[in-house]
Amino acid sequence: MKIIIINGPNLNLLGKREPDIYGSHSFEDYFSNLKLKFSSIDLEYFQSNIEGEIIDKLHEVGFSYDGIILNAAAYTHTSVGIGDAVKAINTPVIEVHISNVHAREEFRHKSYIAASAKGVIFGFGLKSYDLATESFL
Ligand code: DQA
Repeated sequence: MKIIIINGPNLNLLGKREPDIYGSHSFEDYFSNLKLKFSSIDLEYFQSNIEGEIIDKLHEVGFSYDGIILNAAAYTHTSVGIGDAVKAINTPVIEVHISNVHAREEFRHKSYIAASAKGVIFGFGLKSYDLATESFL
């Protein structure tokens, strides 16, 4: 089973960025452990701060992979383009957020992805990605 985690803007700074909200672990460290935990899954990771690169990656994997775990970060709340890409592909997408976006500012309550996602998981810290991965098993 082939699954990719796609992270959007500023998530390359996990561990350094607002640790009170996003925790103190880098995604790379977390991802190594996730791969060990789910060793039966072929798990990949891609991060970009650029909207078009995220759309290109969705097109590239969205007709052949078994699952996509997408944390589009701030683009979740702004990007019609990423929302349309999720709608256009065949591979099921789980939308993930580290923080509880509904307990934060109003603009974070809106998602252009959720309506086309298979499911949405948020508010469990990095464990949100564990839960999303497990949902594909
Ligand atoms: C986030 C929540 C977004 O609102 C924010 O812009 C992020 C991270 C999360 O994982 O909690 O960058 O997607």
